[in-house]
Amino acid sequence: MTSVEPIADRAAKLVERFGSPLYVYDAERVRTAYRTFAEAFPYAPVDFHYAIVCNKNQHLVRLLHELGAGIHANTPGDAHAALTAGVPAHRIVYTGTNLDDADLTFLLDHGIRLNLDSVDQLRDYAARCPGGAVGLRLLVDDPRRPSRIGVDPAELPEALEIARAAGVRLVGLHMYAGTNNLSLSRFLTCFDRLLAAAESLPDLEEVDVGGGFGVAYREDLPPLDLPTLGREVASRLDAFSSRRGRRIRLVVEPGRVLVAEAGTLLVKVISVKERGGRRYVGVDSTVGNVVVQSVYYPHHRIEALSPRGAPVAVPTDVCGNTTHSRDFLARDCQLPPLAPGDLLALHDVGAYGYAMSSHFLNRPRPAEVVLDGGEAVLTTRRETFADLLATQVGS
Ligand SMILES: Cc1ncc(COP(=O)(O)O)c(C=O)c1O
Repeated sequence: MTSVEPIADRAAKLVERFGSPLYVYDAERVRTAYRTFAEAFPYAPVDFHYAIVCNKNQHLVRLLHELGAGIHANTPGDAHAALTAGVPAHRIVYTGTNLDDADLTFLLDHGIRLNLDSVDQLRDYAARCPGGAVGLRLLVDDPRRPSRIGVDPAELPEALEIARAAGVRLVGLHMYAGTNNLSLSRFLTCFDRLLAAAESLPDLEEVDVGGGFGVAYREDLPPLDLPTLGREVASRLDAFSSRRGRRIRLVVEPGRVLVAEAGTLLVKVISVKERGGRRYVGVDSTVGNVVVQSVYYPHHRIEALSPRGAPVAVPTDVCGNTTHSRDFLARDCQLPPLAPGDLLALHDVGAYGYAMSSHFLNRPRPAEVVLDGGEAVLTTRRETFADLLATQVGS
C-alpha cells in the first residue's frame, strides 16, 4: 500500500467545497496502477479490459480507455456505462451469465464480443447467430464440487457439436479465479486448467485469464506477486501458441487492482462517546454509502486527518449515522483524540465502494470527485432525498 497524501492534504478544502461524506479518487494513481499492471504481462498480442463492475465512474473509465484499456462488462448495464463513456463496442468484452432475450439483443445489436456461461446459452446464441463467433466461460474449479460458474470441461464436446451444427466458431475461452485473489498458485492452477481445456477448441483465437487480482488491504497481507504471475501466464501461453503454430491473444480483465487504492472516502466526525472501555466515534456516513467489513470483506484502513498526538489507549469503533446494528465503518481502530468536525479518511475504497453503495438506510449517496492534473473534478453529484424516491410511481 502506498501513500495517499495528495488526497489527505487537500481533504479539508475538498470537503468545504463539495461537502461530506465525499468519495475522492486520485487519477494519477489509477494511471500508475494501469501501467504497472500492463507491464507485468510480457506477451503479445495482449488486451487489457478494465472490469467496470468495480467502479463505473465515467472520468476514470475514459482515463483508462485513453491509456489503451478496453472494458470488461458483466451486465448489459456495465456495457451501457462503457459505451456512454465513449468506449467503442469492439473494445468491450462481455462475460455474464443467464442472459435473457433482451440482454442478448442489446449485446448483439451493439456487436459486443461474448463469453457464454452455459451450454443452454450457447444454444440460444447459435439459434440467433448461425455462422457467428463466440467464447465460453470455463468452470476452472473441481467439477465434482458445487459451482454455478461456467461450462464444465466435460461439456465441451457437446458445446462443439452445437457450434458445429450452427456453423458457430468457438473462438475464446474465459476463466475467473474469484475476486480479491492474492494467491499466485490459485491463478496458475486455474490457468493451466484453462489451457488444458483450450486444447480441444480448434478455432481458438484468445484466452481470457479474467480478473480477480487482489489488493492487500491490510498491511500484514503479502501482496499478489503480479510480475511472477504475468511472466508465468506469458510463458505458458507462448508454449501453447507454439504448439498451435499461431499466436493466441491474451485477454486480461483487471478491476479492483486498478482503482481500489486510488479511492478514499472522506467522512466527518459528528460525536464521540467513551464508555465501558471503548470509544465510539460517530461519523456522517454509513454502510449504505460504502460497504465495509462489518457487512462484507474487505477491511479498509482508516486514518484521522487532524493529527492530535498518538492513538488513544482505548479501542475505537467508527459508527455510521444510522441505528442499524451493523453500521460500523471500522472496528477496533487505533486513532488519536478526535472531536466533532474532524475528518477521517477511509482508504482503498476505489473498487466496490461507490459501486456497492445503495439506498439501504435512506442516506443519499455521497458525491464523487476525481483529482486530475491539479484539478478537482466533480464527477457525480451528491444525491438528495428526491433521488431516494426517484423511481417510485403512483401515489
Ligand atoms: C468475469 C469477471 N471478470 C472480472 C471481474 C473483476 O474482478 P476484480 O475486480 O476482482 O478484478 C469480475 C467481477 O465480478 C468478473 O465477474
